[in-house]
Amino acid sequence: MANRFWRIARRPEGNDFAAALELVEAPLAPLAEGEVRIRNSHLSMDAGTRLWLTSREDGYQPPLPLGIAMTGLVLGEVTESRAEGFAPGDLVRAFGQWGDWSTVDAVMSGALKLDPSVSDRRAWFGPLGMNGWTALWGVERTGAAKPGEKVLVSAAAGATGILAVQIARLLGCEAWGIAGGAAKCAYLADELGIAGAVDYKAGDVGAQLDKAGGFDVYFDNVGGPLLDAVLTRMNHYGRIAVCGLLADYSSGNRTAPKEFDQVLMRRLRVEGFFSPDFMHEGPVLTERLRAWHEAGDLVMPYDVTRGLENTLAAYAKLFTGGNIGKVIVELGT
Ligand SMILES: NC(=O)c1ccc[n+]([C@@H]2O[C@H](COP(=O)([O-])OP(=O)(O)OC[C@H]3O[C@@H](n4cnc5c(N)ncnc54)[C@H](OP(=O)(O)O)[C@@H]3O)[C@@H](O)[C@H]2O)c1
Repeated sequence: MANRFWRIARRPEGNDFAAALELVEAPLAPLAEGEVRIRNSHLSMDAGTRLWLTSREDGYQPPLPLGIAMTGLVLGEVTESRAEGFAPGDLVRAFGQWGDWSTVDAVMSGALKLDPSVSDRRAWFGPLGMNGWTALWGVERTGAAKPGEKVLVSAAAGATGILAVQIARLLGCEAWGIAGGAAKCAYLADELGIAGAVDYKAGDVGAQLDKAGGFDVYFDNVGGPLLDAVLTRMNHYGRIAVCGLLADYSSGNRTAPKEFDQVLMRRLRVEGFFSPDFMHEGPVLTERLRAWHEAGDLVMPYDVTRGLENTLAAYAKLFTGGNIGKVIVELGT
């Protein structure tokens, strides 16, 4: 049987993914011991994977080698298994391949059997997935947000940020978001009803941030110059939970805050966090997220692109700001 998949031919320059990834077809190899075959129904587009496409050796994981299939989270049914605990028909999520099929080592890929009774399986990528785990961990554990505190989230209309602002509010905090453009800010303020949204593309970010009057927690997805604008507006003993550095991913820049001295002046704690470090707490995090989600208190808009051949257009949205909520590629019929 043949598999179509996106092969990494070259390292991308900026957001030119078409020059770097090519859609190819190759026969599926027989399964090795410990592997499962998944018929992908959905691919998750995750901004962090942009780092894996660079040649940086000092990242939180080594670069993906050229010539292999692009790796990312997938959802789908197991069709064949040589791994204990997985059988044909199981719905699973795993770090698989951007293709019609994924062939993965069940352990190495973090393959997880999912409850098929969840009515919209896309939730396993959003509120019940890595974005949900990351948002909850970053607000509650790394950010140590307490009821009544002001929590600011950057890239707040994206998958991780949209969950982080809602979780902050669910934990009794006053949630503020930063996003690009009036439509995103209107979504955050009017649809989600958070305390306020700052449009970083609309000029004077500092003046907009000043309206909130100081933040106790900054859940940062972006880094770059926005971090400087926030550093000077943190309350004393505030916490900056560094989730991602989107400003650096495509540009190749390194975030180097000019206002770093505010860490001392305001006695701030700055700490990065990374979801694979707390994978073992996934079931507990999922249970809490699922309760909020099923009660309608934790919502996720989906930005869905249909067809494997359109994957790169979906992926680019993460870096150009074309999405509200979780970007997903839907495969099959
Ligand atoms: N630490 C972890 O374990 C972990 C796990 C998952 C995700 N993350 C991080 O979470 C962040 C969000 O990832 P995601 O997959 O959920 O993507 P996403 O938020 O759905 O999409 C990315 C959004 O970021 C904004 N953005 C892009 N470039 C920007 C820039 N230079 N400055 C400001 N905003 C920019 C865009 O919205 P605008 O229109 O608002 O610009 C875009 O829609 C990433 O930094 C990712 O690395 C970390």
